[in-house]
Amino acid sequence: MSPESPAFTVAAVDVSVVRPLRHLYLRPDQPVAAVAYKSDDCETCHHVAARDAEGTVIGVGTSHYADRVAGQPPFGHPGLRIRGMAVTDAWRSKGVGAALIAAMLEAGAEAGMVEAWANARTASLSFYRRHGFSEVSQVFELPTIGEHVVVAVSLAKWAKKAT
Ligand SMILES: CC(C)(COP(=O)(O)OP(=O)(O)OC[C@H]1O[C@@H](n2cnc3c(N)ncnc32)[C@H](O)[C@@H]1OP(=O)(O)O)[C@@H](O)C(=O)NCCC(=O)NCCS
Repeated sequence: MSPESPAFTVAAVDVSVVRPLRHLYLRPDQPVAAVAYKSDDCETCHHVAARDAEGTVIGVGTSHYADRVAGQPPFGHPGLRIRGMAVTDAWRSKGVGAALIAAMLEAGAEAGMVEAWANARTASLSFYRRHGFSEVSQVFELPTIGEHVVVAVSLAKWAKKAT
């Protein structure tokens, strides 16, 4: 964060903290149950939230161990899946998403993961590209949500930061 950037903090949180923004920004037309991912309680799940100076949650993300099986090889195993990233409208383009993904990639590298991947909405591709991800699949449609593409990045650079 630059000195001029507004203050926010990022920390690991319980899954109950991330679900409201997931619902609001990722699946607003679906029941709340749609944002309770099957993997949410897995042992390797790392839920992160950004909060503003008042403690309001302004951004969320989740990562967990899951080997990538879709898209082009090479597949870096073990893999870290990134999902459920959402930042409130008011806080977009202020580095909150960058801080959230950095926290997840760094923790993943520290835990020994070698590749991070996501099913990225095509609308958010520039965000993932900015963090070193590249597209490794054709664009595909997820019913009711829209166009996605599998993106992946080596965690080698993050492993260095983690040591
Ligand atoms: C994708 C998403 C999580 C990114 O969050 P964000 O907080 O806006 O991300 P950042 O601020 O780190 O980066 C966004 C842009 O702001 C710019 N930016 C970052 N910090 C900045 C700053 N201090 N000043 C000006 N611009 C800045 C970056 O250049 C970046 O541009 P890019 O998107 O072309 O890479 C957010 O747009 C979102 O919630 N989208 C809707 C839900 C969604 O699509 N989630 C992803 C599902 S795959």
